[in-house]
Amino acid sequence: MKSQPIRLSRFLTFAGLLSFCLAGSLVAQAPLTPGLGKTTPPPATVAATPFVCYSAVHVDGPFIAMTFDDGPSEKLTPELLDLLAQHHIHATFFVIGTNVVAHPEVLQRAVGEGHEIGNHSWSHPAFAKMRDDSVRLQLQKTDDAIRAAIGSSPTLMRPPYGSITARQKRWINSEFGYRIILWDIDPLDWKRPGAAVVTSRIVRETRPGSIILSHDIHPGTIKAMPATFDQLQAKGFKFVTVSELIAMGKPMTPKQTGEYGAAPSASPSRSPAATPVPAASPAPSSPNP
Ligand code: NI
Repeated sequence: MKSQPIRLSRFLTFAGLLSFCLAGSLVAQAPLTPGLGKTTPPPATVAATPFVCYSAVHVDGPFIAMTFDDGPSEKLTPELLDLLAQHHIHATFFVIGTNVVAHPEVLQRAVGEGHEIGNHSWSHPAFAKMRDDSVRLQLQKTDDAIRAAIGSSPTLMRPPYGSITARQKRWINSEFGYRIILWDIDPLDWKRPGAAVVTSRIVRETRPGSIILSHDIHPGTIKAMPATFDQLQAKGFKFVTVSELIAMGKPMTPKQTGEYGAAPSASPSRSPAATPVPAASPAPSSPNP
């Protein structure tokens, strides 16, 4: 009984995040401003850009993306890289600029072993409350640090705390070319609930297309990963990087969109009592991703 409110609230977070992401990601191309005295007819078809924000991806196969935030950590990230290599898993690391500058060799190793790197800001502030020039500086300094460490800029960005407005998503995508990556699975590992709890939360909730949030700066998270990887692989899940997952994305029909936000068929154990919530734009519940 105790777990039910948690599961329901996490489901609602997922449904809300998906709505939030989709609502903020279909950017119709606005017609050019007409010249004086002229009118420009609207385009025959409204072209939509690809999604710029993802909390999960609609895929056909059992593919998922494991993500690790807030590193690199000098000690814990190399331990995690060992585990990932043992399990033949490629993951995605959303890194903090100050940590990149402190431990560029860890980032170099991660990239050399096939993992993906994303921008997670310079010092982990909440973007939604910030001025554009401050956000721009957070992203640019981190982009520069990543490029100095590994020779190329990232193509993904995750806002700290998931804190970002729809307007920020658009201009950040436009200026930096980043896709904005949130998550649909949050084991709340930053609360340090113990390795077994982290594992069980992830394994219970993960479904095809999931983007799983965790942090490679907490010892309990690293300790949770061997069992997490074993159990997810035993269920048939295949791990890919976030960009690989996005590349596998299939368009959703309106019917599928409804199913997607309701009861995922991949998680038959999920309570069927959960119902979709109206489109809203909540901030993710985790205060420390
Ligand atoms: Ni974070």
